[in-house]
Amino acid sequence: MTTAEIKKMADDYIINTYGERPISITKGEGVYVWDAEGKRYLDFVAGISTNNVGHCHPRVVDAIIDQARKLIHTSNLYYTEPQVRLAKRIVELSFAEKCFFCNSGAEANEGAIKLARKYSKENVDPKRFEIITMLKSFHGRTMTTITATGQEKYHKGFEPLSPGFKYVPFNDIKAVEDAITENTCAIMVEPIQVEGGINLPDKEYLPILREICNKNKILLIFDEVQTAMGRLGAMYGYHVYGVEPDIITMAKALGGGVPIGCMATKTKIAESLVPGSHASTFGGNPLACSAALAAINTIVDEKLPENAQKMGDYLKEKFLSMKDKYPVIKDVRGCGLVIGVELNVEGKGFVSECMKNGLILNCIGTSVIRCVPPLIVTKDHIEEALNIFEKGLASI
Ligand SMILES: Cc1ncc(COP(=O)(O)O)c(C=O)c1O
Repeated sequence: MTTAEIKKMADDYIINTYGERPISITKGEGVYVWDAEGKRYLDFVAGISTNNVGHCHPRVVDAIIDQARKLIHTSNLYYTEPQVRLAKRIVELSFAEKCFFCNSGAEANEGAIKLARKYSKENVDPKRFEIITMLKSFHGRTMTTITATGQEKYHKGFEPLSPGFKYVPFNDIKAVEDAITENTCAIMVEPIQVEGGINLPDKEYLPILREICNKNKILLIFDEVQTAMGRLGAMYGYHVYGVEPDIITMAKALGGGVPIGCMATKTKIAESLVPGSHASTFGGNPLACSAALAAINTIVDEKLPENAQKMGDYLKEKFLSMKDKYPVIKDVRGCGLVIGVELNVEGKGFVSECMKNGLILNCIGTSVIRCVPPLIVTKDHIEEALNIFEKGLASI
């Protein structure tokens, strides 16, 4: 099918939550994708920080094929080997001791919210239910995760919101302290706010949040849906900032492109979820777990966090030198391979121009260009992207 034919069918049959899309992607390999007309693009969106191991990594493809031949789905009424193997691997690589599997980031955050409330009611104080989240955060699109998300634009029209959430500005310790009451059970925060505009924590912010949580017997939840799996230059964002949460959520890159989410925590906290208290039909499905196991092992074996750190530093440095040359660049910020280039103008036209020249980028809000390439990216890919990026800047 051509892009025009696909677009027509999308208009006819798909609820228009994503607006008009510029191209239809039909194939991916490594850091490249191809559209329906066969044009190749360098993919610096990577399925929105999801294709960390690149498109169709052979180890992930082989794992999916092998598993699909054996068992695609059963249910959580029964054990499966891929599920327990994946849980063990996640535990080996993190502070966590127990995992719950689901299918998306929003669902992982729902699980974290449920667990934080149940654990706190049972172990700290039955009055506890409130969760403090940050302004400009993003936690998902279910009713409770849009409520957790500290951005009004995601709430509009869907009220009434879920009760029990309070918002404070990111990086503002005093606001957190003021927001805590005897009902507070958790603070939920992204190590870096990516969807909120690529906002980095101040050096002391996360360590002080940890101290506040310890002092008040409040759980610290890190939403690492977009930052886990090597993206920030370490397996998890919390490794970069040296602060251990009580509960962590991950999704996106976990499955190497196959939908899967996970909420993980310490055994003592996990014990509040008992048989019947939480579940998912597809959560921990053998196909998704096999893909995720292959993706995680690839991230470790190919040292992708280290590459993310190295390539991220290189890319950021190059953008910073472009900033000196092009006043249209207002700011360059990021960590590992999450880099934002904030423009003084709307980014939409710039993104289209880069796409025309073979580079896929996207714009967060109106003017922050997000660069989140696959973590397998090389200097050659980055040079190729920078040439197109600079051409785009010159055209503004
Ligand atoms: C930090 C964060 N949390 C949660 C989500 C929601 O994940 P999903 O779209 O898989 O539900 C996202 C998605 O962008 C995210 O970036």
